[in-house]
Amino acid sequence: MKRGLFITVEGTDGSGKTTQMGLICEFVRSIGCEAITVREPGGTRISEQIRNIVLDPEYTEMCFKTEILLYSASRAQLMAEIVRPALEHGRIVICDRFIDSTYAYQGFGRGVEPGLLENINNFIIEGIMPDITFFFDLNPELALGRRVASTVTDRIENEKMEFHKRVHNGYVKLAEKYPDRIKKIDSNRSVEAIWEDVRRVLESIIY
Ligand code: TMP
Repeated sequence: MKRGLFITVEGTDGSGKTTQMGLICEFVRSIGCEAITVREPGGTRISEQIRNIVLDPEYTEMCFKTEILLYSASRAQLMAEIVRPALEHGRIVICDRFIDSTYAYQGFGRGVEPGLLENINNFIIEGIMPDITFFFDLNPELALGRRVASTVTDRIENEKMEFHKRVHNGYVKLAEKYPDRIKKIDSNRSVEAIWEDVRRVLESIIY
């Protein structure tokens, strides 16, 4: 199968990943490549509807099984409609969150057994793994403070600080487990300094 490049960005809420995702996209386009940017949950008509449900702060009664299945359904549709076809056409796909979010939030955050999440993910992604994942590492107290100060918070952001600390710790563990794929970037710095590190990694995989 002809294969493009699949880049994912990860981190706790407010870690600055969305700003860096924009810079990654600009960089890819500046070197003449076509970049497709998507987000999870979301990215397709159906997945955006799922996003509205799964993040709605009104649905405090949502059980963890529903939560896993909604994120998974959103991902399945995104893979089928956008990610798989784009990679098959040799394109560069940049995705704001992917499977590592499920391991960090539902696995470490909610305490769901990782083997179960792996089985569900394998069913959905059918071997399409990111070539590179940027984990924007920022202490969740700092990260969430930034985020909550600037916007209306969603159902996940409304979780207790303990939950966000478990998620953050989960990301740190995942980055230790998969050092070749997951690049941990210290996000407690200026946008320019963070970008410098990200650009270096990108250049090493693109050129
Ligand atoms: P964001 O678009 O602002 O990053 O919000 C998405 C939220 O959904 C964020 O809190 C992380 C969470 N999430 C999960 O809990 N599991 C997942 O699999 C994904 C993709 C996101």
